[in-house]
Amino acid sequence: MNAGPPIADIAHPATYARGVPHDEFARRRRDEPVGWVTEPELVRRSTAGSTVQRGTGFWAVTTHAEVVEVSRRRDEFSSSRRGAFLVDPRTRADLERARQLLVNMDAPQHTWIRRAVSPAFTPRAVQRLAADVAEHARSTVARAMAGDDVDLVRDLAAELPLLVLADLLGLPPADRGLLLRWSNHLVGFDDPEFGGGDIEAYRQALGEAMAYAAALVRDRRRRPREDLVSALVAAEVEGRRLTDAQLCQIWLLLIVAGNETTRHLISGSLAILIGGTVDAHGPGAVEELLRLVSPILQFRRTATRDTTLAGTRIAEGDKVVLYFTSANRDERVFAEPHRFRPDRPDNPHLAFGIGPHFCLGAHLARLELAELLTAIRPYLPRLRLTGPVVRLQSNFVNGIKTMPAALVPAPRTAGRQKECP
Ligand code: HEM
Repeated sequence: MNAGPPIADIAHPATYARGVPHDEFARRRRDEPVGWVTEPELVRRSTAGSTVQRGTGFWAVTTHAEVVEVSRRRDEFSSSRRGAFLVDPRTRADLERARQLLVNMDAPQHTWIRRAVSPAFTPRAVQRLAADVAEHARSTVARAMAGDDVDLVRDLAAELPLLVLADLLGLPPADRGLLLRWSNHLVGFDDPEFGGGDIEAYRQALGEAMAYAAALVRDRRRRPREDLVSALVAAEVEGRRLTDAQLCQIWLLLIVAGNETTRHLISGSLAILIGGTVDAHGPGAVEELLRLVSPILQFRRTATRDTTLAGTRIAEGDKVVLYFTSANRDERVFAEPHRFRPDRPDNPHLAFGIGPHFCLGAHLARLELAELLTAIRPYLPRLRLTGPVVRLQSNFVNGIKTMPAALVPAPRTAGRQKECP
């Protein structure tokens, strides 16, 4: 009897080096929208030697309706109880440290900090950055396209978010290499080329980033400037100000949250657009690229009491994982879910999550992609991949590490529309 293809392990980082297992997610949406996943054994390295760790297992939530429901039932599905990341904190101290990050908080602390930070990310505040973002996009594309040996990740997708974040967070542009290294280590933890599961390397990157943040906060307290850190230092909500430790945590979250995500949105978008014939511009294209790329695969919650979800019983303490990447291709919500269709009349994608933790950087990320598309549009018909696209081993971000490309002389006149990877 033919046993059929092996079922993709949606919890294993290595699975994603081959691409998001969309067939397996489609099967789960059909057969078990809230289905149990046994976690694989993963090797963790430290000076004490290698250890093998295996998570507790979790409920994978793969349908659009259920991802929305869990996100909204905030009292029953907590971000703070065990954090919002798939891997459990190992010790009580690790959990307490994690809870300093906005993404790992629940109300009322979450509501308070969010109120202090969100004014910097309103559409109007982001619009003030538009001219600078457009200029960064133009110069980055021009530099990349002038080179012989272009890597669309290294020269384009990684560059733009770093330049924008350096402006926003008050770093000299020359320090953007530090941002890149820290966030590669923190987010690419499982990839052999970056963190490789090395706990010490992770802690070192974290320590360096925190020391940098602390110096920056001290400096802005003394000499405020026109930047986000100075605004956060001065922010007052309900008569209270953020402490130095809170400011450093926000800064850290922003370098990680605003960097990898936007990089992979750009590289994933280029992977879809290169070699096709679609002309991607306008808000419909940006939303459709967000939906198809879904740079963040998942975030996690923990059940605070025994409950049910789509008829499945969930016990207090169970890990519940929201697969935005799967919800965004749910055939009940999106006709032709694997097709790039910028003309969709309605596009309620969940690339930025939904509910109280909805991404603070959504307007900024949209702006960056829109400006990048505008800048690269004249080159797209002549842009070709010249080598393999190498993907990140991560069960958290949908990432591409390298994407060699070149401009060819003759413009294309005809082509095909592709199914999206
Ligand atoms: C395409 C790019 C981006 C994607 C796909 C993305 C995705 C997400 C998602 C899915 C969440 C929800 C977390 C949860 O439900 O637990 C989130 C939260 C967050 N994002 Fe983004 N993000 C992007 C860009 C950015 C940028 C540019 C920034 C800032 C510069 C940013 C800052 C944040 C912050 C601070 C949170 C935490 C919000 C909270 O917990 O209340 N993100 N993001």
